[in-house]
Amino acid sequence: MNTILKNKFFNKLLVPAFGLFCMLTSCSDNDFSNEYYEDNNTYYDETYRPSIHFTPEKFWVNDPNGMVYYDGEYHLFYQFNPYGPKWGHMSWGHAVSTDMIHWEELSPALYPDELGDIFSGSIVIDKNNSAGFGKDAMVAIYTSNGAKQTQCIAYSLDKGRTFTKYEYNPVLVSDNPDLKDFRDPKVFWHEASGKWVMSLATHKSITFYSSSDLLKWNKLSEFKDLGMRDHVWECPDLFPLQYNGQTKWVLLVSINPGAPNGGSGTQYFIGDFNGTTFTADLSVPYPIWIDYGKDNYAGVTWDNVPQTDGRRLQIGWMSNWQYAGDVPTNTWRGGMTMPKELTLKTHPNGYPVLASGFVTEISKIGANWSTLTASNNEFKLGDVNDSYQLNIDMNIGAGSNKTLKLENEMGENFVITIDRSNNTFVTNRKQSGDVGFSSSFAAVSTAPLNVNSNNISLSIVVDKGSVEVLVNDGVSQQTNLVFPKKLYNKVILSGSESSVPTIKCRKLNSTR
Ligand code: FRU
Repeated sequence: MNTILKNKFFNKLLVPAFGLFCMLTSCSDNDFSNEYYEDNNTYYDETYRPSIHFTPEKFWVNDPNGMVYYDGEYHLFYQFNPYGPKWGHMSWGHAVSTDMIHWEELSPALYPDELGDIFSGSIVIDKNNSAGFGKDAMVAIYTSNGAKQTQCIAYSLDKGRTFTKYEYNPVLVSDNPDLKDFRDPKVFWHEASGKWVMSLATHKSITFYSSSDLLKWNKLSEFKDLGMRDHVWECPDLFPLQYNGQTKWVLLVSINPGAPNGGSGTQYFIGDFNGTTFTADLSVPYPIWIDYGKDNYAGVTWDNVPQTDGRRLQIGWMSNWQYAGDVPTNTWRGGMTMPKELTLKTHPNGYPVLASGFVTEISKIGANWSTLTASNNEFKLGDVNDSYQLNIDMNIGAGSNKTLKLENEMGENFVITIDRSNNTFVTNRKQSGDVGFSSSFAAVSTAPLNVNSNNISLSIVVDKGSVEVLVNDGVSQQTNLVFPKKLYNKVILSGSESSVPTIKCRKLNSTR
């Protein structure tokens, strides 16, 4: 972090009584001692520090918030503790990028106030000045987590560098005083009805509200009674996607716990939205999940991506509430997945599925692809230091299976099995490196393959702290954290399928 930024942090931390209070009290609770100002640490050299995934220089991060594209910049705000590497004092951190790959961390955007901590939320660009803050104001709609959860707004007229909180906050309070879970507003402009629409997590349902000015909100409808409902719903996002020449609406709903492989996960629904009500297609076998790995949570999509681009772009928090506070990274904790483009593809059984693809901008950091040659069922990746991408094309006959073990010299490994006998895609990180910090970490995670063909292609991004695997254009996906001492640098094959896959590898240059 540069000096200007450090000074901004310094002013923001020391001036408010709140900051001083935090320094004297809770900060001493966590394992990062109060060395914030005089520390001469060289960040980004830590063993498990990702090379190409977003992580803050220091301290705790969870959900991505306020993702919006504006005037050449992708903004990524996020749940952030400005005082240490454990959850608490929730504020909005902020980073910007021109390509979603190289990120510049800026000063935190929103700090707690008398209404509470700043929980998750979204940002829109008020092109017609509907709220009266100014044309093109960047308006943040977030949850204040105080005595109760309420929705508040703040605006920026300088591309998100500074925010002013609206003086009449909160703008939305629940009409049910017993409702404790009332949070994570995601707002978009609904062109057909000419109004703003908010999706809000309301205990085990999503409630939709509308507004003409972002200040007064009217309840539209409530969506519930479908999917995984064992626990509280969080971080919704409703958006349209094209599918076979029609517009379909996708509703993302995160839930914790309740994920298919334990802990936190994001389910989704596909259907229609008429400006008032979201109706899910019942041909889809809910619950279905955007990612069956353990570490892709609370992901939502960027607002205001230009129509000329047209992509629906998403990023998730790459962790899981089961162990997020215990992962063996002490200077920072938490980070984001690779940014992905979301599309709808067709499941072999005929219904639509959400597919995730690495954004094409990843090629900016990609070296040339090389085709690896196998010797005794082993492919060596050569010298890999930062991170790399693998494209693997396989032919796996019905009833057969193929296992690919990514391994380093220490024998630490991450195992991927494609099993065509039951069309599953299984990962095993039991020997992936440091797994001892939580009993929930050493996991085997199973996903549906969502493919019924002998031709299986995997696209894999391996960074220092994670493995992201996409099957056949991302119709099935797993994101998993790993903590090996060194990057895995070979692929070892086994399984009943004897044909040898084609494996291409390219190095991805560090974005640090
Ligand atoms: C999801 C979540 C949100 C909440 C935020 C608090 O991970 O629990 O519902 O706004 O984290 O940090």
